[in-house]
Amino acid sequence: MKPIPPDLAWLNLPNLPTPVKVLFSGYLLAVGLGLCMAGLQIMLTHGMADGKPGLSLDDIVYSYYGDRTGSKLESKLNGSMKEMGTPEARLDIIKWVRNGALDAEWEPHFKDTFKQHCVMCHSSVPGIPDFTKLEEVKKVAKVNEGASIQTLTRVSHIHLFGISFIFFFVGFIFSFAVGVPKWLKISAIAIPFGFLIADVLSWWLTKWNPNFAWLTIIGGFGYSVASTMMWFVSMYQMLILSRNGKIYGNAWQADLE
Ligand code: HEC
Repeated sequence: MKPIPPDLAWLNLPNLPTPVKVLFSGYLLAVGLGLCMAGLQIMLTHGMADGKPGLSLDDIVYSYYGDRTGSKLESKLNGSMKEMGTPEARLDIIKWVRNGALDAEWEPHFKDTFKQHCVMCHSSVPGIPDFTKLEEVKKVAKVNEGASIQTLTRVSHIHLFGISFIFFFVGFIFSFAVGVPKWLKISAIAIPFGFLIADVLSWWLTKWNPNFAWLTIIGGFGYSVASTMMWFVSMYQMLILSRNGKIYGNAWQADLE
């Protein structure tokens, strides 16, 4: 049996008792895998928001702010549906949609307009909206305003609770690292929390103003870098550095000085 070092001299990542190392490195492994999956999921969902693969500012703007330049109905009437109906009918529909008071004028007027110009296809061709029904018209007449407040509050609190749990334990484990300057240790532990809050805040700010989308990228990037650094240093010290048999002393004690 190894001699027991005096006075908590084993309290550092390389010298931790093996069961604690198993606990810490098992946790880090699972969390590391989880973070990779989270990254992949972001690429697959938000990354495709603007229709192109890869995460870009446009994706973030599209997810949180939406596309408020107009409704799908309006963009189609200026695009592939431009030749359907007379120019007057088109302008008439666009004005009605921009006004937003859809219900009041449907029966007396627009039901007929759609019937004349659109319904020959939009009620018989499968897979395109049926414009004999007001609800179907309304669906394409809505302006895309991005994430709803309900979605944002839900995702925000899940993120803040869940991810701070991850950062808490990753930072706690890293606090036992040896040979890391105190200022660097403190920054690496603090940064993820700061960026996590900035990241969640940026969703709300982006919903209000699309120029804040860059903050989402910086926030996500910032906490990924800080936690990846802590992850690798901790794993290295527990599993590899420990093999030289050296006693490193109480890591917390060292940080008091
Ligand atoms: C000749 C048949 C035809 C007529 C007439 C027609 N459409 Fe379309 N419409 C289509 C087809 C086919 C699509 C699907 C392809 C596309 O999006 O261009 C479509 C798609 C649309 C879409 C997009 C639906 C979605 O959910 O993606 C809108 C909005 C639309 N049409 C509006 C109109 C309006 C308004 C009129 C009348 C002024 C009209 N269309 C007349 C055939 C028609």
